[in-house]
Amino acid sequence: MSKKDIRAIEGTRDYLGEDGIRFEKAMDGAREIFTRFGFEKIATPVFESTDLFARSIGEATDIVEKEMYTFKPGSEMITLRPEGTAGAIRAYLQHNLHKQGSLTKLWYAGPMFRRERPQKGRYRQFHQVGIEAVGSSDPLLDTEVIAMGIAYYERLGITGIRLRLNSIGCSKDECRPAYRAKLRAEIEPNLDKLCKTCNSRFERNALRILDCKNPHCQEVVKGLPASYDNLCEECEDHFAKVKEGLAAQGIEFDVDATLVRGLDYYSKTVFEYTHGALGAQDAIGGGGRYDGLVEELGGPATPAVGFAIGVERAMIAMEALGACCCAAPLSVFGIGLGEDCHKAMSGMITRLRREGISADMDYEGRSFKSQMRLANRKGAQVALILGDNELAEGKVNVKDMREGGEQLSVNIADAISEVKKLLP
Ligand code: HAM
Repeated sequence: MSKKDIRAIEGTRDYLGEDGIRFEKAMDGAREIFTRFGFEKIATPVFESTDLFARSIGEATDIVEKEMYTFKPGSEMITLRPEGTAGAIRAYLQHNLHKQGSLTKLWYAGPMFRRERPQKGRYRQFHQVGIEAVGSSDPLLDTEVIAMGIAYYERLGITGIRLRLNSIGCSKDECRPAYRAKLRAEIEPNLDKLCKTCNSRFERNALRILDCKNPHCQEVVKGLPASYDNLCEECEDHFAKVKEGLAAQGIEFDVDATLVRGLDYYSKTVFEYTHGALGAQDAIGGGGRYDGLVEELGGPATPAVGFAIGVERAMIAMEALGACCCAAPLSVFGIGLGEDCHKAMSGMITRLRREGISADMDYEGRSFKSQMRLANRKGAQVALILGDNELAEGKVNVKDMREGGEQLSVNIADAISEVKKLLP
């Protein structure tokens, strides 16, 4: 049998080199920013009961209809999570967080799976960093959440983010159901002008017609009423306060009647962050309020708001902007010449690492010159150089690797404190 190359599955990717650094920055940035805003980490399983996603994301959505990886390995249908909100809320209920009687702020990061047609910025395994704030209907919380997304992009050096904002109202008869009926009445005479997908959406999910990219559909959509002009009093007041809150924080936004989002659990505020570097898949993150989901999943009526950011899309923007993608430089490179010094250097490197100082050495028997080159390539700030004469005298050379930096001979026992003096 011939040995055939095994390659990564279409729509999945490896992250290495500069991409690996960007990926790590995107993940580290999430921990830093989300904890700064008082969010606590939650990690949920990568697969859950299929029913969880069908009930939360909605049966008539693209995700549930055609994009889920669903298996039946035993008696239960399971699905690789296409997003993080459903699992977070399932866990919130399962662990009785709703009984704590206070706002619960959770953040997560990890792989998600959607069987979409792969293209730039659209993968079948991708990563999200996201947050869910569960237990408050305060419009200022919507504002805070939106501001946190922007703080996250800033942390990654991503400038040029645009914020699209809309309110799709709530489930009260006079709010979204009335708007949906009005929309359908206006669309019906034009059904023949709409694409096949929109025709099928007309029955099951008419609001999604608003965000169809087909130019014929967009012509029809242009003249349709906006959801934000058809809100109940409570939703109208909420939307006004969210907009006021954003303006007070100096956050610019475009109110966009065509923003309806692809998941069914939303109510009131919906938003999307977009970036020009991304091309067709320009949504770099998105979220909104979902005041009905906790109840839908069997809990008490509990308002909530959250978002998720696409890590791969953030990485594309970082690359396009030349946002920093350098690895943290190595602090110390140890050079031990000859077998005894190699062994002694290994002990010194271990002690440095225990002190929290990044340190490395050669394990391939390189010459002194070649080890110095390696130290430079790794960006080492200090080199420790140990030869047999130094070892016999209990000394080691500490070389400052900066241009014109000096080399000192110090007692081995003092090496760590001497190294520390040279590090920022
Ligand atoms: P979403 O808009 O479906 O929302 O996904 C959030 C982000 O994930 C998108 O804006 C995009 O950046 C990224 N993304 C989605 N699909 C792909 C893909 N196939 N390839 C690469 N990136 C992708 C949600 O998932 C909601 N759970 C957000 C949320 C949290 N709403 C409330 N809380």
